[in-house]
Amino acid sequence: MEDFRIQLVESYLSDLALDASVLEAYEDRIILVTGGAGAIGSNLTIALSRLVGPHGRIVVLDNLSATKLTEPWNVAPLPNLMFVKGDVRNDRDLKRVFGESPTMVFHLAAFFANQNSLDYPEESAEVDVLGLMKLLEYSRLASVERFVYASSGCAICGSYPEMPLREDFISMHLTTPYQINKMTGEMYCNLYHYMYGLQTVNCRFFNSYGPGEAPGQYRNVIPNFVYWAMKGLPLPITGNGEETRDFTNVLDLVQGLLKAGAYESAVGQNFNLASGREIPIIELAELINRVVGNDAGVVFKERRKWDTKPRLLAAIDKAQALIGYTPLIDFESGLLKNVEWLRTNWDLIQRAADFPPGISSAVRDADEVCADQRDPATDEPLSEVLR
Ligand SMILES: NC(=O)c1ccc[n+]([C@@H]2O[C@H](COP(=O)([O-])OP(=O)(O)OC[C@H]3O[C@@H](n4cnc5c(N)ncnc54)[C@H](O)[C@@H]3O)[C@@H](O)[C@H]2O)c1
Repeated sequence: MEDFRIQLVESYLSDLALDASVLEAYEDRIILVTGGAGAIGSNLTIALSRLVGPHGRIVVLDNLSATKLTEPWNVAPLPNLMFVKGDVRNDRDLKRVFGESPTMVFHLAAFFANQNSLDYPEESAEVDVLGLMKLLEYSRLASVERFVYASSGCAICGSYPEMPLREDFISMHLTTPYQINKMTGEMYCNLYHYMYGLQTVNCRFFNSYGPGEAPGQYRNVIPNFVYWAMKGLPLPITGNGEETRDFTNVLDLVQGLLKAGAYESAVGQNFNLASGREIPIIELAELINRVVGNDAGVVFKERRKWDTKPRLLAAIDKAQALIGYTPLIDFESGLLKNVEWLRTNWDLIQRAADFPPGISSAVRDADEVCADQRDPATDEPLSEVLR
């Protein structure tokens, strides 16, 4: 599995042809990546491991809370990568990783995401606000030279902004604790930049997809759609399907993060990292059903109350101008690679997929959708197979 992803990242880096100043910025560095076992962080660490070279080191801090598995299945076994299982809220763990003397921090650990934060609002604030505050303070004390923060486009823009979304649009009407906490995170980064000169960068992501994300009750729509399609289930659409999202390939996000960590022009800034293309959810569902060969179609469910955004399309010209960000991967080919990764690691994905019985709407929907259906292979009720 790791070979597939290592090759994918390496081939992306070779297409990207980063300029010499970016390569120099990373060579021999020690870099801390929080959340480095996650969907985006696990791809970023492969790229960083390559860029720092044999004399540099990547230190990953992750508490492995995002999937069902307790082993770091998503962390590539690279010789210059050190994995520390620990929590961004825990001083002992932070002292451990800052003891490695990182000079750059990519802070991607988060309590992911909207529905999860509604179900567990206090933990969301503890991780996404208090955890970030600790990271910023340790980074300041350790004289870290660059602090890149994984922010979220949907956390800043609220419900009904103009499209495409520009960075200067800010809404005070957010619909989940996750969004509030992510916006607060940006404000703390700005504070540390202003007060203490910490070189912070706020990167606002939009709907990541790609290898490295297992399906789950709190996960993004693409891995979940592929998972249900592979199980022969109709894909549950919460809304009328005309809603759009700006799906960004995880490798393009890695590009943005690498450039955000290297270019001076990024410091103290916030910018969108997205694809700049919107895709209606109904088209996404039909495409996934076609690619996977699922003829069960789609089923429409009620829109979730917090999900108030009929469209999401990000302007990416600011990131383009500041750091030369240019998405390279077109959606269809990126999706095919994502499906290939999920398919070739199907046993692992089945174990990692996190759909416990509980209160999440994703599980409820799946239960209802497959109430009368049986797995053709085992004749078990599909609602059981999904667990
Ligand atoms: N995926 C997206 O579409 C998207 C969109 C906008 C913003 N973001 C942000 O990007 C970052 C990465 O997203 P992702 O999709 O890779 O999420 P993810 O959940 O896959 O990765 C986050 C990682 O953080 C770890 N983590 C959670 N709580 C922790 C804690 N207390 N201490 C240490 N580690 C902890 C998890 O185990 C996980 O591996 C997050 O900050 C997220 O808010 C993601």
